[in-house]
Amino acid sequence: MKILVTGGAGFIGSAVVRLAVSRGHEVVNVDALTYAACLENVASVSENPLYAFEHADICDRAAMDRILVAHKPDAVMHLAAESHVDRSIDGPGAFIQTNITGTYILLEAARAYWEGAGKPEGFRFHHISTDEVFGSLEAEGQFTEDTPYAPNSPYSASKAASDHLVRAWAETYGLPVVMTNCSNNYGPYHFPEKLVPVVILKALAGEAIPVYGTGENVRDWLYVEDHADALLCVLEKGVLNRSYNVGGENEATNLDLVKMICGVLDQRRPSNAPHADLISFVADRPGHDLRYAIDPTRIRTELNWRPSVTVEEGIAKTVDWYLDNQDWWSALQNRDGVGARLGTKS
Ligand SMILES: NC(=O)c1ccc[n+]([C@@H]2O[C@H](COP(=O)([O-])OP(=O)(O)OC[C@H]3O[C@@H](n4cnc5c(N)ncnc54)[C@H](O)[C@@H]3O)[C@@H](O)[C@H]2O)c1
Repeated sequence: MKILVTGGAGFIGSAVVRLAVSRGHEVVNVDALTYAACLENVASVSENPLYAFEHADICDRAAMDRILVAHKPDAVMHLAAESHVDRSIDGPGAFIQTNITGTYILLEAARAYWEGAGKPEGFRFHHISTDEVFGSLEAEGQFTEDTPYAPNSPYSASKAASDHLVRAWAETYGLPVVMTNCSNNYGPYHFPEKLVPVVILKALAGEAIPVYGTGENVRDWLYVEDHADALLCVLEKGVLNRSYNVGGENEATNLDLVKMICGVLDQRRPSNAPHADLISFVADRPGHDLRYAIDPTRIRTELNWRPSVTVEEGIAKTVDWYLDNQDWWSALQNRDGVGARLGTKS
């Protein structure tokens, strides 16, 4: 299959690119190379004849038309987005532009391409979204695909809007779509402004490890390589016009996750143990959702997919990856806003 991946120089998109190429798919990576992008993430496939890169913005309709016609993909996997909740609090405009307007422009370009090709039945527009569109849970319950949308941050509201656009393009124009809403990812190549890499890198530097509020927020932690596998599974086997929730089946509070990371570092760097002494509670994020939890029944029963690692295994692999790849993350620490406390405006 030839797959056009948007956002393939980012964290999850690059995992999809690497996995798809390793499975023999042709991949066209379309990325605007924002602050969150890193072409090193796809260096392992950049010379592969199955791989092509297009430096382009999904908001540029002419570029999207040209790329689709030039490469003639069988599917679009749409991951390009502004993705950091804290940045969406400080500057929501970029999130509205890329996540909503960009998705609209990409949908229109994909529709024109699909109609121009005679509406091939096998074409798929796979929209990758987040469980954050469902809002916040109390201590009990899980998100199903039928949970009403109740986004709380500018980021999750922009992703919710994009989900609605995709649904409407399927219903109104017959564009063949599949959608996924996943929980919090972690793993190799995670940009060093997100919780897991922040904790690892602060602990390695012997600096205070910031934990928002009291650290009691619960997330369902999904290893990024498992997520990429789930996305290809949904693309290949998912029912047309259906959405699938993807979770790691690994709920943990932020504080427990931070302590887990510290425990792995205590084993790898015993002279600096206990790293948990560096934990420092800081002012909470405004509108910080208490709990997200995924009911994985649909993807498990319909597509026979489940995650391959526990959060303990995934965190150990992730810590080891950061220990082995200092060149990758130290180069990114100079980028705008990385390392600073963002998202405190309310
Ligand atoms: N990271 C998570 O835990 C998580 C969880 C659920 C859903 N998601 C969703 O998965 C997708 C990928 O997330 P991620 O964490 O890999 O994000 P990321 O921020 O690491 O990467 C986003 C990529 O998109 C590119 N991009 C941004 N704006 C663009 C534009 N206008 N045109 C073209 N490219 C553009 C960036 O350059 C970057 O390479 C997003 O849609 C996000 O909403 C992420």
